[in-house]
Amino acid sequence: MKDKEISRLLGLEKARQKKVINLIASENYVSSDVRFTLASEFVNKYAEGYPGKRYYGGNEYVDELETLCMNRARSVFGLSESEWGVNVQALSGSPANVAVYTALVPYREKIMGLSLDHGGHLTHGHAVSVTGKWWKQIPFFVDLVTERLHYEAIRQIALKEKPALIVVGFTAYSRVVDWKKIREIATEVGALMHVDMSHLAGLVAGGVYPSPFAYADTVMTTTHKTLRGPRSALIFSRKDERKLNEKIDKAVFPGLQGGPHINQIAAVAVALQEALEPFFKSYAKQVIRNAEILAKELSSLGWRIVSGGTDSHLFLLDTWREGKGISGGEASDVLEKAGIIVNKNTIPGDTRSPKDPSGIRIGAAAETTRGKKEKDMKIIARKIDEALKKAMASKNA
Ligand SMILES: Cc1ncc(COP(=O)(O)O)c(C=O)c1O
Repeated sequence: MKDKEISRLLGLEKARQKKVINLIASENYVSSDVRFTLASEFVNKYAEGYPGKRYYGGNEYVDELETLCMNRARSVFGLSESEWGVNVQALSGSPANVAVYTALVPYREKIMGLSLDHGGHLTHGHAVSVTGKWWKQIPFFVDLVTERLHYEAIRQIALKEKPALIVVGFTAYSRVVDWKKIREIATEVGALMHVDMSHLAGLVAGGVYPSPFAYADTVMTTTHKTLRGPRSALIFSRKDERKLNEKIDKAVFPGLQGGPHINQIAAVAVALQEALEPFFKSYAKQVIRNAEILAKELSSLGWRIVSGGTDSHLFLLDTWREGKGISGGEASDVLEKAGIIVNKNTIPGDTRSPKDPSGIRIGAAAETTRGKKEKDMKIIARKIDEALKKAMASKNA
């Protein structure tokens, strides 16, 4: 490579990724085929519009590619083309959520979503995101005792506020969601049900987490977390007289974006084919198993796991309460020095600032891709325990 400066950084990042234990719940490692496709000739192509309706010439293979990607996306989640539309052009998860709201929720209307400090995402209507400026967020919360969703409490808020849309999805909630109960609440108050399964998509694809498709009106997912694809997003919408899919397509292009990133769509298609292969089911099973073992082991070493455990690829570790006294920021720093990468995270009812909250988020998807199994999780748990207890001791010295 001619560019020595970038070449140096590429080498350093490659070495860093090899060296560390990566427990960032939203990260993963793509296959060499996905990386190859990202750098393919499709990177050179402009293709504003949709298959068969482009504003540029030379798109015969792009049309075939985008259609293939859409069909694979439906196959991965067991959906029929007659019932579900899918848009594969959104550049990432945040713009995809904005596209859904732009298409379906009138300006300044209410969006009900899980509060950020209880595990929701910025784009579920948080004040610092445009989703909290262009629409009004009605937050819901987890129960502070069980640290799980409390469906009757959610229902009461929905009945009082009558939101136009309820978004259900998380960055830091580890339990199975009762999608049916959310559907019932949405129907009772006349709201659309939008599921943001960004974290869960690979688990749903692998059949180890309940699918929301029987209940939701629209489903958005990023493709780069448990699904193991490149950074991108898919937006699914029910095809019926409401024409949700047509509205969403218009919101994505020309509403919010210009030309789609065709190389990215090609790489998503590769990742979706991988998710359709039998090995992906064992991968998803192992992810859950690894997260479970890691949480159990840390718990037996004296660490509090938010909600007492996990049903997914991630969980929150409380590093502050019960006399531990290490902030999430401190915990993440000492772990990084020990070669373990996590992120600091608020825990439900956090009394500290989001900039330095009371816990860390731990995920097993990336290390499972690298072949880690139960015995490795036990070793990682002991390493985490050792580093955090050392930090506690030096604070108390
Ligand atoms: C639940 C959820 N929704 C949306 C997003 C936004 O995705 P992106 O970072 O690709 O914009 C994330 C990313 O962390 C997420 O976890």
